[in-house]
Amino acid sequence: MRFKVGVCQFNPELFNVSRNLAKMESLLSDVSADLIVLPELAASGYVFRSKAEVSSCAEQPQNGPTAQLFKALAKQNKTSYVVGFAEKAKAGLYNSSMLVNPDGKINIYRKTHLFFEEKKWFMPGDTGFKVFTIKGSIKVGLMICFDWIFPESARSLALAGAQIVAHSANLVLPWCQQAMITRSLENRIFSVTSNRTGLEKNGTSKLKFTGMSQIIDPTGKIVSRMNETEEYVVVKEINPLKADDKNVTEYNNLFTDRRTELYLS
Ligand code: ACM
Repeated sequence: MRFKVGVCQFNPELFNVSRNLAKMESLLSDVSADLIVLPELAASGYVFRSKAEVSSCAEQPQNGPTAQLFKALAKQNKTSYVVGFAEKAKAGLYNSSMLVNPDGKINIYRKTHLFFEEKKWFMPGDTGFKVFTIKGSIKVGLMICFDWIFPESARSLALAGAQIVAHSANLVLPWCQQAMITRSLENRIFSVTSNRTGLEKNGTSKLKFTGMSQIIDPTGKIVSRMNETEEYVVVKEINPLKADDKNVTEYNNLFTDRRTELYLS
């Protein structure tokens, strides 16, 4: 089966939601694909210093500015998108990603494992690791950035049937891109990590983001890896059905060989 998966890498500007949405729209307007993954907190930027700052650019998941733009793009380009955003909910603020489909349906994932000062502004995600079907049969699971360091995240998505893990990220530590090769390999899944670029400052806080967005196949092969700084989109053709074969050798299956009775939880 032929499936076009893409990754969009760019440098959002802190607090400038309308500029960031316009940037994503221009990067994506002529790109044809089945699924494109964008970074974590793509519309708002990342280096917040208070809940009030997050709240000033947090959005309703179903009809905020990010949802509206991506619903229009999904319909126009017949593409599904996964994009990170600051979610305003009744209970508080979440670091979330939305899967937006051409029929206008939106599914939400709320980041499970919050990183560093995110714990001061965001609530820990309560959605759990969910897998959604796109294009009739392709299973897409969502995780966000620091979820990568907990192998349970990708494992849970793989056990739930994900063929492709859409991983929106704002990476600052140097290990994730290499670690995601292992996450793909140990679960036999495609992983698509969309990372942002740039140096973001807010008062005395600053972070540098590492780019190198990538698509990894179920054998750990790097299908595509982007550079550290540039803003662009890459689309590659993959066969998601490759992720359904969990056999490593004729004697070894990644799922049926598990010895859950010996594992600690
Ligand atoms: C991260 O979770 N944004 C590093």
